[in-house]
Amino acid sequence: MADSHPRPTRRGFLAASGAALLGAVVAGSAGHAAPRPDTARLGDFWLFGRYDDGCTELGFDEIDLSPVQLPHCVTPLSWTGWDPASWQDRWIYRKHFTVNAAERHVARFDGVMTNASVFLNGALVATHEGGYLPFEVGLPGVVPGDNVVAVVVDGRWALDVPPNLPRGGGPSVIDFYQPAGIYRPAAIGPVPRIRLTDVFARPVDVLSPGRSLHVTCTLDAPVVAEVTASVRQAGRELAHGTAPVAGTTAEFDVGGLGAVRLWDVDDPALCDVVVTVRSGPVLLDQRTVRIGFREAEFTPGGFFLNGRRLKLTGLNRHQWYPFAGGAMPDRVQRRDAEILRRELNCTMVRCSHYPQSSAFLDACDELGLLVWEEIPGWGRIGDAAWQEQNFRDVSGMITRDRNHPSIIVWGTRVNEANGTTAMYGRTGRLARRLDPSRPTSGALASSTGARFAGSDVEVLAYNDYTARRGAPFQLRPPRAGVPYLVTETIGTISGARAYRRTDPAATQQLQAELHAKAHDLAAADDRYCGLLAWCAFDYPSGWQRSVGGSKYAGVSDFFRIPKPAAAFYASQGHPLVRPVVEPGFAWDFTASPGGPGRDVTIWSNCDRLQLFLDDRPIGAARSRRTDFPHLRYPPFAVDLVVPRGQRPQLRIDGYAGEKLVVSRRFSGDRSRDVLGCVPDDTRLRADGADATRVVVSALDRFGTLRAGTTGKVTLALTGPGELVGDPVLDLGATGGAAAVWLRPFAGPPGVLTLTARHDSLGTATATVTTSASGSADGSRS
Ligand code: GAL
Repeated sequence: MADSHPRPTRRGFLAASGAALLGAVVAGSAGHAAPRPDTARLGDFWLFGRYDDGCTELGFDEIDLSPVQLPHCVTPLSWTGWDPASWQDRWIYRKHFTVNAAERHVARFDGVMTNASVFLNGALVATHEGGYLPFEVGLPGVVPGDNVVAVVVDGRWALDVPPNLPRGGGPSVIDFYQPAGIYRPAAIGPVPRIRLTDVFARPVDVLSPGRSLHVTCTLDAPVVAEVTASVRQAGRELAHGTAPVAGTTAEFDVGGLGAVRLWDVDDPALCDVVVTVRSGPVLLDQRTVRIGFREAEFTPGGFFLNGRRLKLTGLNRHQWYPFAGGAMPDRVQRRDAEILRRELNCTMVRCSHYPQSSAFLDACDELGLLVWEEIPGWGRIGDAAWQEQNFRDVSGMITRDRNHPSIIVWGTRVNEANGTTAMYGRTGRLARRLDPSRPTSGALASSTGARFAGSDVEVLAYNDYTARRGAPFQLRPPRAGVPYLVTETIGTISGARAYRRTDPAATQQLQAELHAKAHDLAAADDRYCGLLAWCAFDYPSGWQRSVGGSKYAGVSDFFRIPKPAAAFYASQGHPLVRPVVEPGFAWDFTASPGGPGRDVTIWSNCDRLQLFLDDRPIGAARSRRTDFPHLRYPPFAVDLVVPRGQRPQLRIDGYAGEKLVVSRRFSGDRSRDVLGCVPDDTRLRADGADATRVVVSALDRFGTLRAGTTGKVTLALTGPGELVGDPVLDLGATGGAAAVWLRPFAGPPGVLTLTARHDSLGTATATVTTSASGSADGSRS
């Protein structure tokens, strides 16, 4: 990780750490009757280093440790060429915190890769296995004054936890790298004496006006108390219900919800359920969970949301990022959901192949992006101990996430691992017990799909890689009598080995055509509930068909910058919401001196496209409806042959009906290209746990990416923050565009300025203002 701004000193960090912790603890105790550690985001200042003898002891000499902010990855990474040896080790994180009185404390970790041993003041208090689910550790030994939590993080592949299988080889035997670290948020703080440990609010009979909410609350100790659940929408209470606690649980129905607005992909109306536990006049605990009322039904004849047929259209998402591994703050996680729903028009995402961050799932709830979530695992099943861990993962995943309305199916089978019917029978039963409202499934491998018995899952899901190179693209027909969903297709198996912006235009166009064809075929037959193609973003991998430690299967690159294949997805939204005209070719006479050629494609949701060269009309583009009979918005074809030596400007006007809805220009003149340096957000929080992406790219004078640009961009950051990225970007290697992330330090507000310089494109800057942690802004601008 490069850092062009001096980091705060270790002493400064420690002072700030103590102050932040104390402040939050005090605010939590006084300002809220039932403070929770997950509202006190105190995980930002930790001391970090390689594991050393004695590093878990209270009095360990911390001189060699460095202050870090969570989420954190143990090793600096680039955007490609990751070496698993750099994180395959044991590491130590230490956190000092001050306690005023002998209150009950817990530490909560949203995700630690891969195993964690947690020590309080030198004594082991808990261990946790597996990198994708949260865990909470009681801290009964806290003392008034200084305390230290030490976490030994073991990132070695040697550990036999899903998806790892050490006996099968090293980290490259599965198709994604998993760098170590406390890579999701963590918090340490006081909690009430008696706590709500779980609330599950399950909508029932959603489509009938007599709909209700079945509420199950669990406390961590038996108590004589009463639980109330208040159901609120748009700030107004719709209904409430009350029940006594019996032992440690309270279970009851809330009726009177006829007026609720349903949650849908185009109108994701959410509800808050505020659960309060009181013993007489004493408030013991309170928690709010967010839900949505929707009915999601997979049938042999297709998928229905709230009784309306909906073709599930989407992509698979891996959670990895350049430079940071999985350790990107919530805002960055949320951005992926936004790209998928708003820019690529997906109605569904598959969280392949593990539970993903809560921030991502929250954004899916808010954006109306349906979700397949699955347990960690890839291709194989381990021994009895591995299977026990798998069982715990099913439980952990469903318990963490069952209030999310966006999740419509649980992947309780290990991706592409058949066999061990006994294990799947058990996990399927567990899933149905924990959540009777959703079906279970598991993505089957092509070779074994035909033998699916259908016993332990309700949805047959299939990674359909039947189409092979050279042959016309096809899908297997749906299986009669079972709900059928395509969970993967294309990837780098059905077409080229890699889809990079540096690959020939024909290769990149092939990826776009295959994605369009797959969705066209799925749209043609109502029995396909939908199709989730492989995949949204490039990802780090050392497996089959990876190139230099990266897998170039994404329709967007690792930086989340769209490739030509993304244009197909972008073009499937309504033209009056977002009119799209995206050429499937480069208007670049250095790369193709005679122009793009005959029959080249333009992805668009317009009814009609008119083309101009240097503002002289050259006619309309031809619809490719016959190639894609079932797409909502088929692309267009056009002949664009230009006499050698000429470099005209191309203009494309797009019409919806008779209305001109978009006009785009593309420059043939490279001499006027510029450098872009554009942040996703211009305001961030200075709390150490916020970040935004800055896209650095070569652009023609009208703002279109010039993929064929080479040369280096040098970056310099000023201001109180960290550059999460390489300080020099090689545009020749990335295809004319790349990105870095800016992450403000926790501390006083300020201004971050990123300056990007390229020899021929010049200089560009991005400016981001940070505001004090806890202040209301820092929102997207
Ligand atoms: C599938 C697998 C995915 C990915 C893909 C490669 O078999 O489920 O995780 O590896 O192949 O294109």
